[in-house]
Amino acid sequence: MQLDDEVCLCFHVSQRKILAHLEHERPKCASQLSECFSAGTGCHWCVPFLTELHRRWSSGESMELIDSPADYAQRRQAYKAARKQAAEAVALRGPLVQSGPDTPPRVDPETESQYDQGDE
Ligand code: FES
Repeated sequence: MQLDDEVCLCFHVSQRKILAHLEHERPKCASQLSECFSAGTGCHWCVPFLTELHRRWSSGESMELIDSPADYAQRRQAYKAARKQAAEAVALRGPLVQSGPDTPPRVDPETESQYDQGDE
C-alpha cells in the first residue's frame, strides 16, 4: 500500500493523511483517528487497520501496510456484503417477534411472582 492509497475507503482518507494526523495531533488512542476526516466512522472496515497504524506509530515500528489496494478494497466489499446480509436477516426476524402470540408475563418486583394476565 502506498502513502496515497486510501485506508478509509468510506471517507477517502489516505495513509498519508493518517500519518500526518498522527504526527501533528499525536492521538493517545486509535479511536482519536476518527478526528482525521472521520476515518473509521463509516462501515468500520478500516478500524483494525487504523488501530494497527496507531499501534505501530506509538511503538516506532514501520507504518507500511502489506495489503495491495485492490485486495484491501475487495476484502472490504466482502465485509460490506456480509454486514448487509446480517442486517437483512435481522430485519426478517423483526416481524416474527412483533407478531408473536403473547407478551412476556409481568412479574411483581417484590414477590417476583407473575401477575395474573387478566384485566386490571
Ligand atoms: S472504510 Fe473506513 S469507515 Fe468504511
